[in-house]
Amino acid sequence: MAHEVRGVVARGKGQPVSLETIVVPDPGPGEALVAVQACGVCHTDLHYREGGINDDFPFLLGHEAAGVVEAVGAGVTDVAPGDFVILNWRAVCGACRACLRGRPQYCFATHNATQKMTLADGTPLSPALGIGAFADKTLVAAGQCTKVDPSASPVAAGLLGCGIMAGLGAAINTGGVTRGDSVAVIGCGGVGDAAVAGAHLAGATTIIAVDVDDTKLDWARRFGATHTVNSRETDPVEAIRDLTGGFGADVVIEAVGRPETYKQAFYARDLAGTVVLVGVPTPEMQLELPLLDVFGRGGALKSSWYGDCLPSRDFPMLVSLYQQGRLDLDAFVTETIALEDVEAAFEKMHHGEVLRSVVVL
Ligand SMILES: NC(=O)c1ccc[n+]([C@@H]2O[C@H](COP(=O)([O-])OP(=O)(O)OC[C@H]3O[C@@H](n4cnc5c(N)ncnc54)[C@H](O)[C@@H]3O)[C@@H](O)[C@H]2O)c1
Ligand SMILES: [Zn+2]
Ligand SMILES: [Zn+2]
Repeated sequence: MAHEVRGVVARGKGQPVSLETIVVPDPGPGEALVAVQACGVCHTDLHYREGGINDDFPFLLGHEAAGVVEAVGAGVTDVAPGDFVILNWRAVCGACRACLRGRPQYCFATHNATQKMTLADGTPLSPALGIGAFADKTLVAAGQCTKVDPSASPVAAGLLGCGIMAGLGAAINTGGVTRGDSVAVIGCGGVGDAAVAGAHLAGATTIIAVDVDDTKLDWARRFGATHTVNSRETDPVEAIRDLTGGFGADVVIEAVGRPETYKQAFYARDLAGTVVLVGVPTPEMQLELPLLDVFGRGGALKSSWYGDCLPSRDFPMLVSLYQQGRLDLDAFVTETIALEDVEAAFEKMHHGEVLRSVVVL
């Protein structure tokens, strides 16, 4: 049996998204059908709509979600109907070269549902990040479902499915931020503020938030920023050096995804410091740096895919910290909206009015 439900579809490059009837198959072997309860609007959804990720239109957008497993296919043992889950885009395969070397957080062979969700006329949909959760129901690989404490609110838990996990993990996992570190975060949207929150959780003593928007900087303080810099008015490299004894920060996290902000991050870190790129660039962007500076400044230039998270390890742990009041996930939610409001939410994101709009179903 297939299920006809509503889904938010991007039909073509730069076109406004539309709410459509989509057809979701019953789960086959290794798959799970999930009734979506909440799905955050991430900048990556907007990248998809703008053709910045690839050209596989039409996309079924939405990928930062929590919900309840409704049915599972043959051979699925890790999750069962009724389980409260966060959807992840890293279904660890256990068999690729990364997994076999004990680095499942890099799994190179993560999998998605085998069957296609389609438009009513049978056109196959490309689900964003293999999820597609701006929909009443979605079909995923069972490994994309991570069980967490069902008493957590779906709106908060779902945030861990993408951007907030990416930011927290950029600080905690990729950046290895630890007690006493100085950290700067460039770009304080949902991802950047999560990096601020991660640095705070990890015990960083100086946390410098950089953005071009004063409202964003005010919000960053709520998550633990000790200093803020408006980089439209002040040179952020100089400001970060001034705030760190003239040296630069131990870890600088770039959460915008642009060459100019990457360069700021590169020069705003201390010698032997770490740069973490968590912002996602678009295909035409190029970076030019003096190779001597790359050598001479030493340290590590890292990219953070999904905050180097391991969903089975990190999601339940972060939900627990949330429930203990040590990680304020609710503070990321600027507004809750309906499925038909996703296009308006993109507009607000574009104008910097929101940290996260979360679709509630
Ligand atoms: N690596 C991953 O796994 C991963 C996961 C999710 C999202 N992302 C990416 O992270 C980035 C941020 O996502 P988001 O949801 O927080 O987006 P967002 O639009 O909410 O936030 C971006 C922030 O950057 C600020 N900004 C823009 N230009 C700037 C500049 N020149 N200098 C300083 N700040 C500037 C904006 O004011 C805004 O506050 C996006 O590129 C997104 O695709 C990466
Ligand atoms: Zn693997
Ligand atoms: Zn995302």
